[in-house]
Amino acid sequence: MKIHHLLALIHLTMSLQAATPSITVKPFGKLADGQKADLFTLTNKNGASTTISNYGGIVTSLTMPDRNGKLADVVLGFDSLSKYVMESPYFGCLVGRYGNRIAKGKFTLDGRNYTLATNNIGNALHGGLKGFDKVVWEATPKITTQGPSLKLAYVSKDGEEGYPGTLRVTATYTLTNKNELKLVYRATTDRDTIVNLTHHSYFNLAGQGNGTILDHLLTLDSSRYTPVDKTLIPTGKIASVKGTPFDFRKPTSIGSRIDAKDEQLKFAGGYDHNFVGDKPFPGSLTRIAKVEEPKSGRVMEVFTTEPAVQFYAGNFLDGTLRGKGGKVYARRGGFCLEPQHYPDSPNHKNFPSVVLKPGEIYKNTIIYRFSTER
Ligand code: GLA
Repeated sequence: MKIHHLLALIHLTMSLQAATPSITVKPFGKLADGQKADLFTLTNKNGASTTISNYGGIVTSLTMPDRNGKLADVVLGFDSLSKYVMESPYFGCLVGRYGNRIAKGKFTLDGRNYTLATNNIGNALHGGLKGFDKVVWEATPKITTQGPSLKLAYVSKDGEEGYPGTLRVTATYTLTNKNELKLVYRATTDRDTIVNLTHHSYFNLAGQGNGTILDHLLTLDSSRYTPVDKTLIPTGKIASVKGTPFDFRKPTSIGSRIDAKDEQLKFAGGYDHNFVGDKPFPGSLTRIAKVEEPKSGRVMEVFTTEPAVQFYAGNFLDGTLRGKGGKVYARRGGFCLEPQHYPDSPNHKNFPSVVLKPGEIYKNTIIYRFSTER
């Protein structure tokens, strides 16, 4: 037996040995206003782990085994709190109150006009200047029968970032013993409002900082997507993916058509689009995406109760960010799969509603399930 085979075997045996699920906590740093942020590390019985901060609900690391049982951190991020505060392109965070874009920051609800801050080429993006990704959440760690978990809670005041109604939000992160990162969001309001919460990890299944994601094979359980204008706002059309570079119904490498001559790809510098799930909405938890990384054998499947998924290929990363362990993040060095409602829904009557009313409960479940293949 060759030495590297032996090492792989030892790794595999070690990783197959059941560990006791655990949660540890350590300080992450202090924000300008004096609030303290912590890091919670959840380890499941297989030895896979994730670290989550109560600042922005950010997943700062997620280690998962490759086909030989070797763990690698599969999400992009930073080593320090200050980098997340100063220069993060939404790495790993919880986005809200309204994830994704609202055209010109304007919408009407119950006959009243609302104006949000515009922070992205004239549009509102990801909840505003100080969205849910930039606030400190109250954290409650707990070992559950599914695996270690962390519940985050935040009360967004009436009028915060321009949105109506006091929104009480919880987000429960569980690292299940089946190697899933399970996210359950829940929200209630005291006035009619709009809600669209999601998770913004940039994944690289070869390991963070390990080149681009162009060789990853992507499957999207989606036959339709919402084309955008040049500011990435949906035109309102729901178009078929058939015969376009947006057809990922069969496993296709992300890079194979990303630079094709196509107006939609030109607008976004690659993929940064909302894909409509094929299952009926509202409905039960169903798979919406699968990603396979051929070299490591890592596979990630995405399940959601939401009607769509934003697939962003990291086109705006430009090789200037220095991430964890000093790794330089290349353009398209990570991809996001953000299950959510369609962008700019409040301004499109033909898109599923994002309105939440008093007495109703907003619920949204996202599962990133990891496995390996030969
Ligand atoms: C989202 C958007 C992208 C980009 C990233 C953050 O996923 O769809 O256009 O803004 O966030 O850089």
